[in-house]
Amino acid sequence: MTLLEIRDLHVGVDSREIIRGLDLMVNAGEVHAIMGPNGSGKSTLSHVIAGKPGYEVTGGQILFRGEDLLEMEPNERAAKGVFLAFQYPVEIPGVTTMNFLRTALNAQRKARGRGEFSTPEFLKKVREVAESLNIPRDMLKRGVNVGFSGGEKKRNEILQMALFEPSLCILDEIDSGLDIDALRIVASGINGLRSPERAMIVITHYQRLLHYIVPDYVHVMSKGRVVKSGGKELALELEACGYGQFETAA
Ligand SMILES: Nc1ncnc2c1ncn2[C@@H]1O[C@H](COP(=O)(O)OP(=O)(O)OP(=O)(O)O)[C@@H](O)[C@H]1O
Ligand SMILES: [Mg+2]
Repeated sequence: MTLLEIRDLHVGVDSREIIRGLDLMVNAGEVHAIMGPNGSGKSTLSHVIAGKPGYEVTGGQILFRGEDLLEMEPNERAAKGVFLAFQYPVEIPGVTTMNFLRTALNAQRKARGRGEFSTPEFLKKVREVAESLNIPRDMLKRGVNVGFSGGEKKRNEILQMALFEPSLCILDEIDSGLDIDALRIVASGINGLRSPERAMIVITHYQRLLHYIVPDYVHVMSKGRVVKSGGKELALELEACGYGQFETAA
């Protein structure tokens, strides 16, 4: 089943075109990796899919399960199952991680027609997942991402992802800032969420991550477009040869 279908997408910021005719099709069960040089528009694409404000879609379509995603508010998209782990997770001072998770999770369950978790049910679930990601309990009592190290922020993103049970997970440089052990833990957390009903888009610069999270497809983005798609071997080719060959193609 096709989950995400992007057709000839054009996106601008401050009247500068950043996404310039991008096509991408993602089916349930698939893992797609997106690679590409700095500034090629990878994060912009992820933000536009998730509904972050500040971007102007000037052309094209994004369909999620056949529905027009661009017509939906960001919270509706989340309720439909779209999840983005940010390249730079935001800090929310004054809201503890626990409260944030509970509020967001119950809002989503409600929107999906499922009952709210009771407090003990919720605590049990969070603690279980947090433990599997090596997130200490006291971190959950602190403000969301406030004073978290780079790697802790990334693990916190995966904690959210595991709790929210999204059907489309977009992971923007989830490997940046992770130490070797954390990379393994995070990758195994992500792999544990792979399922025939769920798809993932993994944005990364490094083959290293794709060694742990083996993608079905790899796409190269350059100057706001997908300029080449292939299997997992394409990532190895990129690591060996760099992006030079695609700059002219774009
Ligand atoms: N809010 C904004 N205002 C101005 N320019 C922007 C804005 N957001 C993105 N851009 C520009 O759009 C281009 C694409 O940025 P984007 O963050 O999507 O790149 P990226 O592929 O994710 O790069 P990286 O690999 O470094 O994370 C960059 O040139 C960036 O400066
Ligand atoms: Mg980026």
